[in-house]
Formats: sequence, structure tokens, C-alpha cells
Amino acid sequence: MSKPEAIYRQDYQPSDYLIHTTELSFELFENETLVTAKVHYYQNPKVKNPPNSLFLNGKNLELIEILIDGFQPDYQLKNDGLQLKNLPADFVLEITTKIHPETNTSLNGLYKTSGNFCTQCEAHGFRQITYYLDRPDVLSVFTTRITADFKRYPILLSNGNLLENQPGTATWFDPHPKPCYLFALVAGDLAVLQDTFTTKSGAEVALKIYVEKHNISKTKFAMESLKRAFAWDERRFGLEYDLEIYMIVAVDDFNMGAMENKGLNIFNSKYVLANPDTATDSDFINIEAVIGHEYFHNWTGNRVTCQDWFQLSLKEGLTVFRDQEFTSDLHARSIKRITDVKALRTLQFAEDSGPMAHPVRPESYIEMNNFYTMTVYEKGAEVVRMIHTLLGEAGFQRGLKLYFQRYDGQAVTIDDFVEAMSEANNFDFADFMAWYSTSGTPQIRIKNSANKITISQPDERLFPLKYGVLDCEGSELESGVLIMKGKQKQFDFSHLPADCRFSWLRDFSAPVKLKP
Ligand code: SER
Ligand code: ZN
Repeated sequence: MSKPEAIYRQDYQPSDYLIHTTELSFELFENETLVTAKVHYYQNPKVKNPPNSLFLNGKNLELIEILIDGFQPDYQLKNDGLQLKNLPADFVLEITTKIHPETNTSLNGLYKTSGNFCTQCEAHGFRQITYYLDRPDVLSVFTTRITADFKRYPILLSNGNLLENQPGTATWFDPHPKPCYLFALVAGDLAVLQDTFTTKSGAEVALKIYVEKHNISKTKFAMESLKRAFAWDERRFGLEYDLEIYMIVAVDDFNMGAMENKGLNIFNSKYVLANPDTATDSDFINIEAVIGHEYFHNWTGNRVTCQDWFQLSLKEGLTVFRDQEFTSDLHARSIKRITDVKALRTLQFAEDSGPMAHPVRPESYIEMNNFYTMTVYEKGAEVVRMIHTLLGEAGFQRGLKLYFQRYDGQAVTIDDFVEAMSEANNFDFADFMAWYSTSGTPQIRIKNSANKITISQPDERLFPLKYGVLDCEGSELESGVLIMKGKQKQFDFSHLPADCRFSWLRDFSAPVKLKP
């Protein structure tokens, strides 16, 4: 086996070719699956002098047939993909591969769980389905046709809206261009709980939760949670859903908590199913939070996605922040904050001071699946929360509005996000970016000399420090947010009584360790 090679953030290059349309056809059998992909490629107009060759990712695929514009192309099969040569500037590639979901135990790509077919394509699962540009900055509309034995697999699902459905076959079309990591397919004998949600602009969305038949009685809370998520994202962020149908499928074998595939979320069943007789309060809160998280990705992750996997926190940090706010707005804000900060300080701080320490935006990876971490998700959410604290709710909303205006339908970077926040508020985040690029938890020191406060830190990063001041009776004299930057900074509180007491780092306004 060859030595695994690291991929570096600084090596990013846009793709030489882009994709107009992707038409997939799946023929599902018990001992093999045939996948035909008809993909319209064209040279990226933004790349100067693009080469006339193209490498497509592929893993564990058996190539059955390959045609370019109807003819045998010049190609070479490699360990990890397919090299196409002597290409025109614009062409249609038709490629048929044979895969084996029935023996795929990696839980990536297309696999089987409890007798049903399902997929997981983030981060690099799609290359186990067909040869493709498996990278998040190549977006395409997808048409997906599925055929399978109607008796075993009466339910056939994919992304987007349903175009056609007959016993044994279904065709789906997703009009929103998306990278292939958001592709999903499900085929099985499943029960469904149905409902509807009417968006604030009056569109009716069909809501469907699919589970194994014996679990149907445990889906009611998930459906209620889903409707709360739709309503909250409209109320707090002005964000509406954009397809005719929203589906959730619960499966028992799943690598992650859940996955935000466009219009067809796939969930680890523990984040969907709740038996009201035995589920605890925290089970219910977790289900609601994960259902919310995946729903909120529709805007922060799907409509605006990541340029490359180093930007993972662009969608995850922001979406965790949004799901934290969802829970806080619907339940007890202070309890939610205490729970999250406890987890951060025990788990993420430990990660950040151990051998696995890495920045919120890593600089290199060998296996991307190892970077779905507390640091990228939870510390990433704290970094977004600091931006929110620095700008306030109205300023944060202004920034997000500009972000969507500018980047809807695109694959972008963390810098693009911060830039939108900066421009919409005329706030300089240059000294803030170390939060994304530096691993470890900074230790800050606060010294008080006759109410002249000196704050120091190991480096020079900008962060908000929330504080309150109490008199000796415990009544609050004042409170606010200090903006710390530079190695050392002084703040003058000498107008306050000599015996007052400071309460620092309220709401845990920055992910730091405080040293007296
Ligand atoms: N993208 C998925 C999620 O965050 C995988 O964990 O929900
Ligand atoms: Zn997520």
C-alpha cells in the first residue's frame, strides 16, 4: 500500500472543469448495484489555459462502460480514480460502474442498513458511487432515477422534488445546484409519518419522516421538532425552505449523528426516535437540537457551501451556533449555555491541549473524516458566537444577510464569511482571525490595581470580554463588553468604589482559560 499523502490548504486550486448537469440512474439488486452517471462537463471559464485532461475521483468501483459524447474516450484507470485525456472544452461523460452496497461496511457511499439502502457522502463518499469531481466547490443540479424490486423496496428516495413514481421506479430532480457530498439515496420498506408546513411566503412543504415500521410510534416528537425548526429559522433569521418536500430517514447504522443532504436528511435513529414512556428530557432536547441542526444547514451549508474541506467550520461552526440559539430561544438559555460550556471545557479544551490539537481551520489533512471534531464544531461555534457578541444581534443579522446576498449558490471560505460580517458592520476582524488559524486554548490574566485593570494574553488576538461589577452587597453597578486586543491592555474602572467586585467572562464570552 502506498503511504497516505497529506493535502494542504494552501495548495487549493479551482477545478479545471465544472459540471452543468448530473443524471444518475441506480439499478439496485441484491448482489450488485449498477450506477449510470451522465454528466455534462465544461471548462472552468475562471481557469486560464485549462488543460484538456481531467482526473475524476473513484474508489472501490468496477468500470463497466465509459463514453464521451457517445465515443470511447482516452482514459487511464488509477488506484484512486480515472484520468481522462484529450478532452474537448465541453462534453458529456456517460459512465457505468458496478458497486456492492450489500458488502460495504465502511458506511460511506451507498450501503445497506437493516436491509435498506442508504448513503453517506460527506466528506468523500460519492467517489464510492461513481467516478466524479468529488469536491465541494463543484456544484451541479442532479436528476436521480432509482429502480429496485418493488416488493422489497417500495420506498425510493433522493434529493429534490419527486418527478415520477411508479411501482419499482422513481425519478427525483433537485433544482438547487449542489456538491456531490449532499447527494442522498434511500430505498427500503419504510413507514412514514407525514405532515405539512406552510412557509411565511405561503408555500406548502410536505414533511415526511421515514423509519422502520416497528418504530413509527416513536416519530411524533421529531416531527414537532422539525416544524419548530422551520418556524424558528423564519422568525429569527428570515430564512425559508426552498423545495416542495423535506424528508428525514432514520437508520440504525450511521457514522455521524445525522447528515444534511439536500431535502433528504439521513439520521442515526437515536436522534429521531423517542419513546415517550422512557425518553428523558435530555433525549428530547438532543433530538430537537439535531433535527434543527440539519434543517439549519439548508442555508448554512447547502445554499452556501464550503470551497474545500479546510473550511468545514464555515458550515459547522455557524450551524452549531444556530442550533444552540434554537435550543436557547425555545428553552432555558442559561441552562443551555452552561451545558455547552461544560462540554467545551472538558472535551474541546482537552482536545486542544493534546496530540489531536488542530486549529478551527486546519492547514492539512490525510483523512478528512478525522476532522469532524469538537474543535471544528464546538470551538467553531464559539468563534461565531464571539462575532455575534462583538457585533450584537442586529449587526450579526446584517452580516449574515450580506453573506447570503453575495454567496447564495456558491462554495466559499471562512474569510468570505468574516469579510461579509466585517463589511456589513464596518468592523475590523484582522486581529480576530487567529481564532481560526491557531490551535490551543489561550490563557488570559487579569490584574486589578485600585480598579485599574490590566488584561494580558499570550498572543495578540481580538476577543470580547463580558463583565459585570458588583458592590459589596452584591448589587450590580455596571456591566458590559470589553474588547481585548494586543498582548496587554488597560481598562480604567477607577470611577467605581474601591471595594467593588468584578465578575469576568460572563456567558463565557470567549473560549479562554482565565488565570487570576
Ligand atoms: N455534516 C453532518 C452534520 O454536521 C455530519 O456530522 O450534521
Ligand atoms: Zn452539521
